[in-house]
Amino acid sequence: MNKGLYVWGTGGHAKSLAEIAIASGFQIQAFISPNSDFQTFLGFTARPELPDGLTPGNAVLAIAIGDNFTRQKVWFELNKTYPLLMFPPLIHPTASIAKDSDIGQGSTVHQNSVVGTSSQVGIFCTLNTASSIEHDCNVGDFASLGPGARTGGNVTIGERAVLAIGSTARHGVQIGDDSVLGAASYAHESIPPLTIAVGAPASFLKDRKAHDPYL
Ligand SMILES: CC(C)(COP(=O)(O)OP(=O)(O)OC[C@H]1O[C@@H](n2cnc3c(N)ncnc32)[C@H](O)[C@@H]1OP(=O)(O)O)[C@@H](O)C(=O)NCCC(=O)NCCS
Repeated sequence: MNKGLYVWGTGGHAKSLAEIAIASGFQIQAFISPNSDFQTFLGFTARPELPDGLTPGNAVLAIAIGDNFTRQKVWFELNKTYPLLMFPPLIHPTASIAKDSDIGQGSTVHQNSVVGTSSQVGIFCTLNTASSIEHDCNVGDFASLGPGARTGGNVTIGERAVLAIGSTARHGVQIGDDSVLGAASYAHESIPPLTIAVGAPASFLKDRKAHDPYL
């Protein structure tokens, strides 16, 4: 907990992540902003790249990028360059995490979110403010729940899949890899991979490619 936290990103998502990190006891060392010439961000140092000399003994990293596909891309690059550095999960103290659930490295759990019993949250997932996962769910790597999104029990969310703001997935459904359940929509049935579904009950809107923007 005394290691300095380096946060990759200086957008809106970085502000939210910083608040969680500070509330959960991390000390932010710097923000990394490769595409801008910021020198400070939120009162902390901002730099274009990570400093030399980072070791697992003195630094941990976080990726503050809201878009799931881009977050994964940045992770691949950072992991290649710094294979030994850790990305701790960041969990706000107001979140409620069942003791037998599991939150993967690099995932963020925002204010007032709930992870139910026997649920697994993969790596680099985002569980945004007041989102909720019921019992026995499985959230794939790099997937996200927007603010207020929720699931019933035994729901599977694929890799990089999105439950957009205020959406609901009925118990037992599967949301395919890279699919989006649209804002305020209700998935009564499973959604195949690479699909955008909207409405209540949600129906097919269009196909998507994994890198298509959704924010
Ligand atoms: C699902 C989503 C990706 C679709 O975006 P898009 O591909 O740009 O779609 P468009 O806005 O062009 O809309 C296409 C049609 O679908 C409808 N539509 C889009 N999203 C909808 C939704 N959530 N519910 C119902 N209808 C929706 C539009 O009204 C439009 O209908 P029309 O053709 O009859 O006019 C987007 O609406 C969404 O939910 N994004 C995520 C938002 C979010 O979670 N933000 C918070 C992040 S912290």
